[in-house]
Amino acid sequence: ATEAQIIDGKLTSELIRKEIALEAAAVKSKYGKAPGLAVVLVGSRGDSATYVRSKKKACADVGIESFGRELPEDVSEEELLKVVQDYNADDDVHGILVQLPLPKHINEQRILDAISLDKDVDGFHPFNIGSLAMRGRQPLYTSCTPKGCLELLRRYNVPISGKRAVVLGRSNIVGMPVAHLLQAEDATVTVVHSKTKDAQALCAEADILIAAIGKAEMVKADWVKPGAAVIDVGTNPVPDDSKKSGYRLVGDVAFREVKEKAGFITPVPGGVGPMTITMLLQNCTEGAQRILE
Ligand code: GUN
Repeated sequence: ATEAQIIDGKLTSELIRKEIALEAAAVKSKYGKAPGLAVVLVGSRGDSATYVRSKKKACADVGIESFGRELPEDVSEEELLKVVQDYNADDDVHGILVQLPLPKHINEQRILDAISLDKDVDGFHPFNIGSLAMRGRQPLYTSCTPKGCLELLRRYNVPISGKRAVVLGRSNIVGMPVAHLLQAEDATVTVVHSKTKDAQALCAEADILIAAIGKAEMVKADWVKPGAAVIDVGTNPVPDDSKKSGYRLVGDVAFREVKEKAGFITPVPGGVGPMTITMLLQNCTEGAQRILE
């Protein structure tokens, strides 16, 4: 058997970030200000803090100005709402991102709904999600991880139209929006979730399999159709004493065995992860162009 082609998200990201850097510089020279991204972090979750740091560094690397607020775990909903409203009104800020999850005492929906549609670079506002789901409408922004998955398929020339796609997971952040994106590209889409009967048989019929369910190495070789394109969105920590942190990240796909059977596969790390941040940078730069023009 031949091995799958490895879809290199890190390399693809580097290529796209070079294009974004040119566009960010063009915005700056045309309008006198760089694209600006505001990143709001609440509390002290280690993973969220790491993501936020990566996002800010990525902004600096491509010439996007980043603004940030770090609020304590016990911040009130009203205070957080005020921070969002201030960024809505701030002319130097073109994109607003509130890192999820939020602490339990805060109504996440209320916060996401408050982000100005024009600045909703995460694409989590129900108007943007609703537009994604409707034929003939275009959201102002498409959520970063789903957009990154589609961009990888596109750049590796994986055909989508008329193909069977299975999305494993139905989260608002990944599963649901990526299913709509695939359907908009004329795939026939099945969403498999925790209550689905015979998930394995459904997955094994997929020409394109998107795994976004958050279970370490759940997708084995016998879940995969020969030649399928497998996109692994999972980032699951598993204990590893040889690491300084005490753990390493694995995907939702058993990479070593699945790569012997799939046609294309994304590694973890180095697959979807870097693309998520790259799509955020792209959304922010395009948003700045739209707002400033
Ligand atoms: N938490 C996990 N993924 C994301 C994301 O894409 N955006 C935000 N804001 N929070 C997240």
